[in-house]
Amino acid sequence: GAAELGPYRHYMQKEIFEQPRVVGDTLEGVTGIMPELFGDQAFRVFKEIDRVLILACGTSYYAGLTAKYWIESVAKLPVNVEIASEYRYRDSVPHPNTLVVTISQSGETADTLAALKHARSLGMTNTLTICNVSTSAMVRECKLAYITRAGVEVGVASTKAFTTQLAALFLLTLTLAQVNGRLTDEQEANYLKQMRHLPVALSSVLALEPQVIAWAEEFARKENALFLGRGIHYPIALEGALKLKEISYIHAEAYPAGELKHGPLALVTEEMPVVTIAPNDALLEKLKSNMQEVRARGGQLYVFADVDTQIISGEGLHVIRLPEHYGLLSPILHVAALQLLAYHTALARGTDVDKPRNLAKSVTVE
Ligand code: G6P
Repeated sequence: GAAELGPYRHYMQKEIFEQPRVVGDTLEGVTGIMPELFGDQAFRVFKEIDRVLILACGTSYYAGLTAKYWIESVAKLPVNVEIASEYRYRDSVPHPNTLVVTISQSGETADTLAALKHARSLGMTNTLTICNVSTSAMVRECKLAYITRAGVEVGVASTKAFTTQLAALFLLTLTLAQVNGRLTDEQEANYLKQMRHLPVALSSVLALEPQVIAWAEEFARKENALFLGRGIHYPIALEGALKLKEISYIHAEAYPAGELKHGPLALVTEEMPVVTIAPNDALLEKLKSNMQEVRARGGQLYVFADVDTQIISGEGLHVIRLPEHYGLLSPILHVAALQLLAYHTALARGTDVDKPRNLAKSVTVE
């Protein structure tokens, strides 16, 4: 009811603003990297495996895609990420030394549970779940678990569950790296420091809300949008497009920016807003040339740039600056800005933000 919502208009908005706290809660008590955080048998399991298979649906799948970039880069283990409803029905080649990771807010998604059982039936018994409900079927079915502490998520479009999943998956990345001898004490200390600072960093992104509202008024009049990202921010572009689709009913697609010229560039006109995630990372120069390709065709660029990127707004180029560049954890900050954009666009269009048409919070039947 209204009392529960406090100053917010919808649960989704409230949940977006709870993220600094719940990301902090999810990492609370983590004073060092240790396998036991994932369960009693975690050390033995992590020693035994030499690859990772991630299974999930929807927003949780995009958390998995982000984790692939992290785990391969930091822990140096090969990672496959599969949509649960595909994996469960396709012929795949199992590998016994696999850590099977399911990601699920509810822990009850039918396809993800079935995919887990399918993996187990293929002989892969080292299973771990990143899940928001400690009493769920998923937690019961898996050998290891890390419980995110997002609290109850009411909005059908997932927000705080996603960022807490990312926090937990980063912790998993560091843990796998440590077990593999890939994490120095100094790196561990630095990453832990960055993780502890996440709530403050997230709050400063959420403080950009007024600027995002100004963009949302323009977005509300469009019927299509493109989202571009590269590297660890490509899955965030996918998630940003999904959020916009789910609650504003604007058709949105996400592309890794380097693929632009292989198709979506044909869609770019003055009527096409192109949301670009532009963190100050190694791919920035490449991304800038992708942005130029859009501008040359009259597309309207809406860029979420880190403060130090030297991207200056001008004709056809709108820029919102995120307060700081956050290295590997940057996806957690950038996605919060995209959540706000989707939320305020939907608000301007007058849709039922917390209960979008045709969608369910948790899909427990096939
Ligand atoms: C539904 C929800 C999504 C969610 C997906 C997977 O489609 O609307 O927000 O990402 O299910 O749910 P899970 O509980 O497994 O994360």
